[in-house]
Amino acid sequence: MLAAGAFRPDKENVIVERFYITTPIYYVNAKPHLGHAYTTTVADSMARFHRLMGAETYFLTGTDEHGDKIVQAAEANGQTPKEYVDTISKLFQDLWPGMNISNNDFIRTTEPRHVKVVQEILQKVYDAGDIYFGEYGGHYCFGCERFYTEKELVDGLCPDHQTKPEYIAEKNYFFKMSKYKDWLLDHINKNPDFIRPERYRKEVVSLLESGELEDLCISRPKSRLTWGIELPFDAEYVTYVWFDALINYVAALGYPDGDKFKKYWPAANHLVAKDILKPHAVFWPTMLKAAGIEPYQHLNVHGYWLVEDTKMSKSIGNVVEPLAMKDAYGLDAFRYFLLREMSFGQDSSFSEKALIGRLNADLANDLGNLFNRTLSMTHKYFGGVIPRPDIEDVEDAEIKKIGQGAMQAFQDFFNEFKFSRGLEGLWELVRGLNKYVDATAPWTLYKEKNTGRLSTVIYVLLENMRKIAVHLWPVMPEASEKMLKQLGITFDPEKVNLPKELDVWGLLESGQTVAETSNLFPRVDPIEDKGPKKSEKKGKKSEKTEKDAVATIEFEDFQKVDLRVGTVREVEKHPDADRLLLVRVDTGDDELRQVVAGIADFFAPDDLIGKQVVVVTNLKPRKLRKQLSQGMILAVKTKDGMELLTPTGEVPGGSKVS
Ligand code: MSP
Repeated sequence: MLAAGAFRPDKENVIVERFYITTPIYYVNAKPHLGHAYTTTVADSMARFHRLMGAETYFLTGTDEHGDKIVQAAEANGQTPKEYVDTISKLFQDLWPGMNISNNDFIRTTEPRHVKVVQEILQKVYDAGDIYFGEYGGHYCFGCERFYTEKELVDGLCPDHQTKPEYIAEKNYFFKMSKYKDWLLDHINKNPDFIRPERYRKEVVSLLESGELEDLCISRPKSRLTWGIELPFDAEYVTYVWFDALINYVAALGYPDGDKFKKYWPAANHLVAKDILKPHAVFWPTMLKAAGIEPYQHLNVHGYWLVEDTKMSKSIGNVVEPLAMKDAYGLDAFRYFLLREMSFGQDSSFSEKALIGRLNADLANDLGNLFNRTLSMTHKYFGGVIPRPDIEDVEDAEIKKIGQGAMQAFQDFFNEFKFSRGLEGLWELVRGLNKYVDATAPWTLYKEKNTGRLSTVIYVLLENMRKIAVHLWPVMPEASEKMLKQLGITFDPEKVNLPKELDVWGLLESGQTVAETSNLFPRVDPIEDKGPKKSEKKGKKSEKTEKDAVATIEFEDFQKVDLRVGTVREVEKHPDADRLLLVRVDTGDDELRQVVAGIADFFAPDDLIGKQVVVVTNLKPRKLRKQLSQGMILAVKTKDGMELLTPTGEVPGGSKVS
């Protein structure tokens, strides 16, 4: 079994007292899609997580409603900008409750409370002498709402939209952003987690170090754009969208005197994807500095969801609709997938096939199975009543330790926005408990009438399941509450304290009745099997069986396959693929043979060390996700997981299988 705490990061758990989380305010020129749903779900999970960690928490999202893009979209729709933004903003506002998003506020940049603060800050920065009037000419892309320099264009086109920008020369107001370059670099260097993960901090540092930071054009003449916030010091101009939009983060808190502002600023955690790194990492902190406001605490940057290796976009037509996913697979499975599948900071590919894979392996098999079998055993052996535990055994102490390590990993990694690793850490306990059932064999204890031991085993299982369900509330609120209900508990977030869960044991009350079964995550047919109706499927199947009937081969052909028994010596996770392990096997050669095996969903690295496996050694070596694979390990896929082929007795590494 894995040692407890195997996944613990080095850093000590930081307990935050106040936590203010924001999403980008989304443009209302298109309907919400998977990308928006992802950021907002992450923010929601973090807000819920911090509520359970005992922090005072505030969660803000909203819509960004000014600018050229909106005017164009409204025109195309035959609506006034106001009518148009009201319609689309409502789509966002209506989507979030359906996804169980627990935001405390929703801000729109067309609201008077926002307009007021934008004008106040503009005036403040203007009075301080950091805004000046000047002439500027540049290539303007309407899609990006920004000017491009010659150098930035690719073959004369906008690198993002592949459209020819318009050359515009006009007088405008500029914010002296350049003045704050050294301050910003210094601040980033002194606060290494100001921008995280690391790769984005590095990107910003190299951008700042690579040359002069330009001043920022912050206005548009009304002759060109009226749909914006008027500059308080020149009625002929409106503010540039970014100067307007970023201010939402403090406007919603009631800057400058609001209680919420005093309470939650600067405890801000902004959450964005890499597309809007520069405005958040450079424009926003320098704007705050110029306005005499403390910088936010952290900028958390994630990668893109790709569909077939391409960023989702309306024009390509590869947009994934969050509600369709929710309807097809259930909200919690969808939320779990989003957090588990993407390594925060890196791009990830979205596919329904991968979603189904996770649902079946992690939720139906591991978690669902644990709940189903334990609840049904509680009914079979104790009439559904939670037994009082007897004396604790070594096995119980061991699983408790695994639990502590798993929960600690979950909490530490979530604190750092590393959701995938946090969930992976928690699953050590889920899988550990399934193994604990097999090892303690409650059915035998029942047969032997060993009620004392049986009571302890069932209690250990149920109490750990309670802990798992509580930890999963930030990710799968509905399923978590249902799981707890099945354990006879009414969930109250106010009463939960996650850090205490590490040390407290026995909150589950003996004598309570549990549900008979738990079918929260029914298995879903793999995507290939979907489509034809049952009757058609039958016909297809027999056709397929005939076609796929295994052809016979000559004995000489079989002899060409070199099968050897190997002993697993080292195992590592594949650095770029969650499902793969790098298994190094002693097959009697001078060096260990590395096999890249798709077994990470079923085995933890430590479980494999010392195991004997059967390896196809003369498969042509090939690279799998950049790692060399020199063979193949033989395995059997079962209904509940996977088994490896192994000799019944120990044999020397390299023994030929014949
Ligand atoms: N209005 C600005 C943000 C202003 S914040 C002060 C904006 N809006 S947006 O509608 O374009 O939203 C961009 C954000 O949506 C990304 O930063 C990210 O949070 C989310 N995503 C949009 N597409 C995405 C993917 N394909 N993948 C992941 N997230 C994506 O920019």
